[in-house]
Amino acid sequence: MPSVKMFTGVGIPLEMHKVRIVQKLRLIPIEDRLKAIAEAGNNTFLLQNRDVYLDMLTDSGVNAMSDHQLASMITADDSYAGSETFTRLADKLTEIFGTKYFLPAHQGRAAEHILAKTYVTEGSVVPTNFHFTTTKALITLYGGSVDEVLIDEGLKTTSTYPFKGNSDIAKLRTVIEKTGPKKIPFMRLEAGTNLVGGQPFSLENMKEVRKVCDEYGIMLVLDASLLQDNLYFIKIREESCKHKTIREITREIADLCDIIYFSARKLGAARGGGIITNSEKAYRNMRVLVPLFEGFLTYGGMSVREMEAMAVGLEETMDEEVINQGPQFIEYMVNELDRKGIPVVTPAGGLGCHLNAREFIPQVPQDQYPAGALGAAMYIAGAVRGMERGTLSEQRNPDGSERLAEMELLRLAMPRRVFTLSQVKYAIDRITWLYENRALVGGLKFVEEPPVLRFFFGRLEPVSDWQTKLAAKFRADLGDSL
Ligand code: F0G
Repeated sequence: MPSVKMFTGVGIPLEMHKVRIVQKLRLIPIEDRLKAIAEAGNNTFLLQNRDVYLDMLTDSGVNAMSDHQLASMITADDSYAGSETFTRLADKLTEIFGTKYFLPAHQGRAAEHILAKTYVTEGSVVPTNFHFTTTKALITLYGGSVDEVLIDEGLKTTSTYPFKGNSDIAKLRTVIEKTGPKKIPFMRLEAGTNLVGGQPFSLENMKEVRKVCDEYGIMLVLDASLLQDNLYFIKIREESCKHKTIREITREIADLCDIIYFSARKLGAARGGGIITNSEKAYRNMRVLVPLFEGFLTYGGMSVREMEAMAVGLEETMDEEVINQGPQFIEYMVNELDRKGIPVVTPAGGLGCHLNAREFIPQVPQDQYPAGALGAAMYIAGAVRGMERGTLSEQRNPDGSERLAEMELLRLAMPRRVFTLSQVKYAIDRITWLYENRALVGGLKFVEEPPVLRFFFGRLEPVSDWQTKLAAKFRADLGDSL
């Protein structure tokens, strides 16, 4: 439930900040949007940002910084080794998470790379509540595989279950028994489960996971990139945590982990990332790779300015009035769309609003990438840029066949404190128009398919002239309006 204080009587989420620096936006006409999406190979990653009105591609590295974060950047101590900025950041991590050791990395996947290279070998199996694209690719690179143990409810697009990111303890036991604990380097728990709609796990479920890990002597690794949303949901949705502070919940979570890693492009609203642990052994095992892949141990590929901003951002993450902004704006958007009968993932999670492409455009078969097609259509309909989170974001099976995703989602991310409510309303209006005209939307096919992480720079084309028809309908309905 939303915290009552943040809502007015008419159910509007309140911005608990004011805008002091702005970036001018452009909204280009529909003809230009048709051209731009074709030039981008129907891949929203390849659009130029100047052609985008609402950039809802991701919340990664695009969250608005606070005045205190910006101010802190001026005080950064710029040195290759032994920078005071590093000490300030390391101390802040210790204060918040209670961990002794910190290995800096230039972003989340760099931390994942260090983990995978250190712990994953040929035949390793990593159980996880749900995989993330870069995590899976890196584990696979070192000869391992991931085995998902998400609760069945997590894969239902519509639900009222508050913790769809929970692990199914019976499934976890089965994976361990089937694989044998020796082949399991660690269990990976992802906060704010990205690919199933930014859905949280509960503290209670995490404790059960820890118990099983202890039984079999398996390390528990937390991907804390989306921890801030998860913390907020634990606080407002988990009865036993209602009276705990965000700081207390964070500490309880951290105490359950052997290793925590994160992308600071999300957690801490800055750039960069890192790995924290209390285990001297784990620290020593991974430490050698930091100067090799990232940079010296006191910057790890990050700029000192970003490290200062991260230290302040992490402190601000402990403030409920800061971290409620993303979830509350997302909840508004999800509930408005749901009310109109438009298929969205429910309950609202963190990260963004997720349209269910399989129900939105059931006429598009999964091997014609419905979520990717909906992404292209959304751009044509309103210059709103989302991200495909479906079959396109999967890797092909080793035999070259398509691995059809469990869900076909178009993610419309909500960078924190970036968009105003009227911009969110514009997105809702464009989605509603597209839904009314959904019969016009067709599929996509690959023109150029990269072998790894193909969604980043793969190029596709429409299977028919559906995009021209959609644009013609737009002109018929909206005339010369943009
Ligand atoms: N883990 C999770 C849960 C993530 O969401 C991401 C990034 C990463 C790891 C990798 O971190 O980008 O700093 O290397 N997610 C971004 C997104 C890319 O748009 O969802 P990174």
